[in-house]
Amino acid sequence: MKHLIDILSLSEQEIDELIATANDIIAHPADYSHVCEGKKLATLFFEPSTRTRLSFEAAMYELGGHVLGFSEAASSSASKGESVSDTVRVVSCYADIIAMRHPKEGAPLVAAMHSGVPVINAGDGGHNHPTQTLADLLTIRREQGRLDNLTLGFCGDLKFGRTVHSLVCAMSRYANVKMIFASPEELRIPDYLITDVLEPRGIEFVQTTDLDAVMPELDILYMTRVQRERFFNEADYLRLKDSYILTLPRLAPAKETMRVLHPLPRVNEISVAVDNDPRACYFEQVRNGKYIRMALIMKLLGVGK
Ligand code: CP
Repeated sequence: MKHLIDILSLSEQEIDELIATANDIIAHPADYSHVCEGKKLATLFFEPSTRTRLSFEAAMYELGGHVLGFSEAASSSASKGESVSDTVRVVSCYADIIAMRHPKEGAPLVAAMHSGVPVINAGDGGHNHPTQTLADLLTIRREQGRLDNLTLGFCGDLKFGRTVHSLVCAMSRYANVKMIFASPEELRIPDYLITDVLEPRGIEFVQTTDLDAVMPELDILYMTRVQRERFFNEADYLRLKDSYILTLPRLAPAKETMRVLHPLPRVNEISVAVDNDPRACYFEQVRNGKYIRMALIMKLLGVGK
């Protein structure tokens, strides 16, 4: 039995296979509409979500399967003190696969250790979000035609943004990738990503506060919101929340081929005027998220078309 807790547990070859399956689903959706008949996905969301939970549920329905679950801890027996390990042991009796989001880092790993069925990490605290990364990788591959030889810019809350952490890990395995991190000083990427991922792999990277200066270099600009729910201090959030706002004038010096990604939800960091620019790709990224989750569910359940 295989789980997906960390994006690095998938090899580059497995990621290529998931991308190929997702592309085939996009091209031939009817071929996949019955492959999960009789199977059930449980979505255990202890933290709010729109895209991840609903895309998992849409993915399972489009594969012909069924969905059960909860969307907040308050409506589960976690509110009575039940542990994550007991919860997944119970849900394993009802479902064939589990997607779990939890505010505590490591909770999906604990779940995987006690589950009788595959567990997918749908976001754990400020740590990781591997299925968002799969959506990001599918989008980059479809838009740029490759995952290597790219200059990636990450902008915003790089400290708490779990989608950034997972994508940095994933992209660090591809050749000739340069990463530029634009953030306020207080919201720089965690040190462990530098010491354990970027430096050992010899990845060229730059940390800056000046997004405008690097804009012309970028092939991908990955915008993120400042993560209010992870701040200890509201005053710090209010001071930092609008550090970077992507507007059409700010985007103007970017390459025509550059693509803007954002895991969403957006708060104020991308002007809605940017949505109509051909470089804006974040709603396509949402659509891709459903298809790559379909491919992942199939892989972890061991079903094919
Ligand atoms: N990108 C993402 O994880 O969105 P949700 O929080 O709405 O699931």
